[in-house]
Amino acid sequence: MEKQSFTIDVIYFSPTHSSGKTAKAIASGMGEPRRKIVDFTLDEKTDDILVGEGELAVICVPVYAGRVAPVAAERLSRLKADGTPAVIAVSYGNRDYDDALVELYDIAVAAGFKPVAAGAFIGEHSYSRKDMPVAAGRPDAADIEIAKRFGRDCMRKLLSGNVGNDLRLKGNRPYRDVKPSPPVAPHSTGDCAGCGECINVCPTHAISLSSGALQTDAEKCVRCCACVKYCPIGARVFDTPFTEFLYKNFSVRREPELFI
Ligand SMILES: Cc1cc2nc3c(=O)[nH]c(=O)nc-3n(C[C@H](O)[C@H](O)[C@H](O)COP(=O)(O)O)c2cc1C
Repeated sequence: MEKQSFTIDVIYFSPTHSSGKTAKAIASGMGEPRRKIVDFTLDEKTDDILVGEGELAVICVPVYAGRVAPVAAERLSRLKADGTPAVIAVSYGNRDYDDALVELYDIAVAAGFKPVAAGAFIGEHSYSRKDMPVAAGRPDAADIEIAKRFGRDCMRKLLSGNVGNDLRLKGNRPYRDVKPSPPVAPHSTGDCAGCGECINVCPTHAISLSSGALQTDAEKCVRCCACVKYCPIGARVFDTPFTEFLYKNFSVRREPELFI
């Protein structure tokens, strides 16, 4: 691969922006080549996206229950590559990423990519709250620096031509089993001013305005908590016992793990 003769496809699904920030940081560490953003967060289209020759992909998605977030897996299935090298990464909320990285590896290979390096990065947990923070504010400046350095090292690896099939990742196959969870969702409090920002940021269009009141379709909701985090007046809440559980058990800072 010759230097700067390609476009970097920066591909992510990222309701609360950690995966997107991480993907962009990895790409920025790769130098100055052309970039194309493929943001699946609000994109419910189903047509194929062809990734051709002369392209290099950086793919980052969130971990849900130790696996690739199902809605991310579904949206990534639109990608059709042809041996395109890919740097794959997951963003998880400081608990664990379990089998998500091997799952993403398999998804990338099935789509026709050749994964050349991988990373597990930390992002603020979707269920983090001000009074019970879990990885609050991450990825922070230190994480972004690590992601950029990783991008630079990935580029060196690619340019060296030394990209065999030797990528060893943490995680198991078969992937951990995820039991279906009951249909619960965030709700709006009486302070809601009806601005509709929650509707705009919901990746599955689970929120609608009906007869002047916000309705949330719990069957569609993936509990990403984008509506909670981006409500401008804090009038969206998600009450889950997981917040306290995570705060009590998974508050000790974890660091990114890189596989290159
Ligand atoms: C339904 C759900 C399940 C999650 N499961 C895990 C998990 O198993 N391990 C973990 O550390 N974080 C978990 N998280 C937290 C997210 O992985 C984390 O907040 C991630 O950075 C979100 O990515 P985004 O900001 O790109 O949306 C979960 C979040 C949600 C919404």
